Amino acid sequence: MCLIMKSGIIRLSALLIALPLFYYSCTIIDNNVVETGYGLKVQNGMVVSAYPDASIIGVKILQNGGNAVDATAAIHFALAVCNPAAGNLGGGGLLVVRESDGNIAALDYREKAPLVAARDMYLDDKGEVIPGLSTSTHLASGVPGTVAGIAEVHNKYGNLSFKEVIQPGIDLARQGFIVSDKLARSLNKMKDRFIERNSHITAFVKDESWVEGDTIRQPELAETLELIRDYGMDGFYRGRTADLIIKEMERVNGIITHGDLENYKAVWRDPITGSYKGYRIISMPPPSSGGVAIIQLLGMIENYPVSEWGFHSDKSIHLMTEAERRVYADRAEYLGDPDFVKIPVEELMGIDYLAGRMSDFNPDQSGDSRDISAGSIPGYESEETTHFSVVDGDGMAVSVTTTLNGAYGNGIVVEGAGFLLNNEMDDFSVKPGYPNIYGLIGGEANSIQPDKRMLSSMTPTIIEENGELFMIVGSPGGSTIITSVFQTILNVIEFNMDMQTAVSAGRFHHQWLPDQISVESDVFDTLLVQKLEKMGHTIAKRPSIGRVDAIRVLSDGSYEGGADPRGDDTAAGY
Ligand code: GLY
Repeated sequence: MCLIMKSGIIRLSALLIALPLFYYSCTIIDNNVVETGYGLKVQNGMVVSAYPDASIIGVKILQNGGNAVDATAAIHFALAVCNPAAGNLGGGGLLVVRESDGNIAALDYREKAPLVAARDMYLDDKGEVIPGLSTSTHLASGVPGTVAGIAEVHNKYGNLSFKEVIQPGIDLARQGFIVSDKLARSLNKMKDRFIERNSHITAFVKDESWVEGDTIRQPELAETLELIRDYGMDGFYRGRTADLIIKEMERVNGIITHGDLENYKAVWRDPITGSYKGYRIISMPPPSSGGVAIIQLLGMIENYPVSEWGFHSDKSIHLMTEAERRVYADRAEYLGDPDFVKIPVEELMGIDYLAGRMSDFNPDQSGDSRDISAGSIPGYESEETTHFSVVDGDGMAVSVTTTLNGAYGNGIVVEGAGFLLNNEMDDFSVKPGYPNIYGLIGGEANSIQPDKRMLSSMTPTIIEENGELFMIVGSPGGSTIITSVFQTILNVIEFNMDMQTAVSAGRFHHQWLPDQISVESDVFDTLLVQKLEKMGHTIAKRPSIGRVDAIRVLSDGSYEGGADPRGDDTAAGY
């Protein structure tokens, strides 16, 4: 440790927590200085992720000659070790990359329904949803896409060898990592579930409770990562790891087969692009609803004076809520896997369509979700998932969101392979009109079909200003991902916040149904709640919303981090 510099704490009534303005520390690793902290500003390269070890691993890759995609691969594998609630090998993800020359691409490595999956597989004889089947059992897992996704993006863009980018994750699994207080509490809460759902003792369970400072070692996960290091995708989708996944499936009611694993492929898709007040927004297309929704939200509010109305004023909250109500209604009706359903993407994002959707906006009165259905086009956890943002010295940027769906997925660890399985099948509409774990309602576009990808809310996003890289942003949080990203963007562009303040600021959320504004505790004061209730809104307090990890490029070309203080999220750079 070479230096700790602490300077200033501010408390704003509308902010969720006491916000450290600056809190830097720097560590010398292999003769290189890695800076970490809130409000971090660096010149050469930055990573903001959900756990300090993963952020530091990413920066070390950058310092050793890797580019942003090499760092992305290394962070992804590291998070599979030190962020077991959401980092994963047994899940999937979505990412957007912008090369230093401005070329953009989006990679879809979302999980898929197994080939024998069926539309009504979670319903009983009477057509009723069987509680827990799509969330808490082997049957809840989609075919994992993460390893295919990392291999694909690294193969296309990486500079370093695959072995170099995966080795830090292997070392972290084998040598262990230090457990934070938040992680210790989370694992202790999950203990009974891990014991109940697994026939073996997992690395996440020990006799005593976990406490901050403990070390978790994961030798079985290290072995799986070594197979991936030595055989690439075949180290996961074929051979020993695949056999262990199938054996785990056969233990109870799983349906993933060797054929499902062997056939899995990540897919390059055209990113969603749109504009907001001169900024270019680049985000994820379907099977995520995130990109379409963020363009819709920004488009619906663009012509209103939100900066004049002010951050968390009753007027701006009301406007943003009414836009969210309409956008989530569209999500439920139109969005799904583009390989299976025709999605009117351009129409949904069209200026006229968005203006029409807001034509019945009443500045003094809340809408009623019973009156709002999807727009007419001519012709949905615990809310886990994790996001990280990366930028290298050349300005190559990667925005990545990856998930097991619920915290620790379905809680089932593949015996002998050491990784958790996802419960992503619940992101399908298991029955039209039936809410998933996020309370999201879905329709036919997101019904279950063999080999289909379930609709996501993940919103990995990159923003340009005047053709140059400006921001990398995203969040976990199920249905609240989209609104967390929306608010963070507005906090910077409309309310002039620096990146850290924008990320730390309190959040609220509306998703059409249920018809309520969810708000982090104490973020709205009594007077504000009264004003919103007078307009007709229902206010529901809840625990934290989203964990945004973002990077902004400053006018001098340096990078400013925003690490979400709601978690162990850490900005690291050099
Ligand atoms: N599993 C959360 C999402 O993809 O939206």
